Amino acid sequence: MKITFYGHASLSIEVNDIHVLVDPFISGNPKASHINIETLPVDYILLTHAHQDHILDVETIAKRTNAVIISNFEIATHYDKLGFESHPLNHGGHWEFEFGTVKYVNAIHTSSFPDGSYGGQPGGFVIEGEHKNIYIAGDTALTLDMKLIPMRTKLDLAILPIGDNFTMGIDDAILASDFVDCDKVLGYHFDTFGYIEIDHEKAKRKFFDKNKDLMLLEIGESLEL
Ligand code: NI
Ligand code: MN
Repeated sequence: MKITFYGHASLSIEVNDIHVLVDPFISGNPKASHINIETLPVDYILLTHAHQDHILDVETIAKRTNAVIISNFEIATHYDKLGFESHPLNHGGHWEFEFGTVKYVNAIHTSSFPDGSYGGQPGGFVIEGEHKNIYIAGDTALTLDMKLIPMRTKLDLAILPIGDNFTMGIDDAILASDFVDCDKVLGYHFDTFGYIEIDHEKAKRKFFDKNKDLMLLEIGESLEL
């Protein structure tokens, strides 16, 4: 499993040559200006919630690639009505896709489309694929529901928001990594806007002091699981 960071909360997960793009907000992120959304290979698009900073490039990319959009019922229905192929999930439910099993899990956040319309309840994803299991928390506060995840899934990586202000910050993300029983964390949702700028070295040191590993990828950089 290969994971590539595209800035903010945008990631690509590659399993057996299948490309799963998460929360594409690339063209609107000046820090990601070197990423070309016109050439990204995409087979599926996972959306945690409907906020602009997670869905901005969905239509452009789905039009070009015919990618299947996987999200909560309201978001999937929204894109279905626009003529895109979608797969609706709701909290606690999972489905087996060709790249692995996807479960939609709780997140504490909000979820409205940019025009203010209802975007369902926000969530995160637990993906079990190719002998590797990952948790993509989405935008969320620290929540006790995270403790349910390791009861079913032994995680290899937790992808957690760390930018604070709109989501958890570093200290709560450290507790979240305890809750999901995974000491290997990829941080996301930081630095994009002034509200969520963080001190990288301080953040990594805080994780290190708890015997945990916080990885921060450059935009366009990948890690292999
Ligand atoms: Ni959000
Ligand atoms: Mn966000």
